[in-house]
Amino acid sequence: MNRPFHPILLAALLLGIAAHGISGEVPVEPLKNPFAGDAWKLPTNQVTLKNAPGLELIQANCVMCHSLDYVSMQPPLTRAQWTAGVDKMRVRFGAPLTTNQIPAIVDYLEANYAPKKP
Ligand code: HEC
Repeated sequence: MNRPFHPILLAALLLGIAAHGISGEVPVEPLKNPFAGDAWKLPTNQVTLKNAPGLELIQANCVMCHSLDYVSMQPPLTRAQWTAGVDKMRVRFGAPLTTNQIPAIVDYLEANYAPKKP
């Protein structure tokens, strides 16, 4: 058997032409001008913590190393656990906190990210 066109290959060829056009060109997106319009907008997925007294302490002391979702993604923690956590930031990771700043920071964390009192 010596057909000039194998039927399956012929079908594949025709499908290819249908998909890409005779020229076989793949459409190319024009390059976007990075300086145009809203190209410089900040991402909108920024983490925000509960707006409550003391939030400014967290914003001032906790974002130089990691994002605030390290706080919001914790399970509810007791005051003792938050104190230990913030102390770990200071002692182990070198957060530039003085020990007398910690109670006010923990006040915020306890008020907003502690287990609900019954
Ligand atoms: C000097 C850098 C630094 C500062 C400042 C800092 N952290 Fe961290 N924090 C870390 C590092 C490093 C980790 C561990 C990251 C990891 O495990 O990937 C961490 C992890 C955490 C975690 C996750 C739980 C854990 O213990 O690993 C929490 C919650 C957290 N930080 C809260 C805070 C809070 C609240 C503040 C502000 C009082 C703060 N951090 C400031 C460095 C810092």
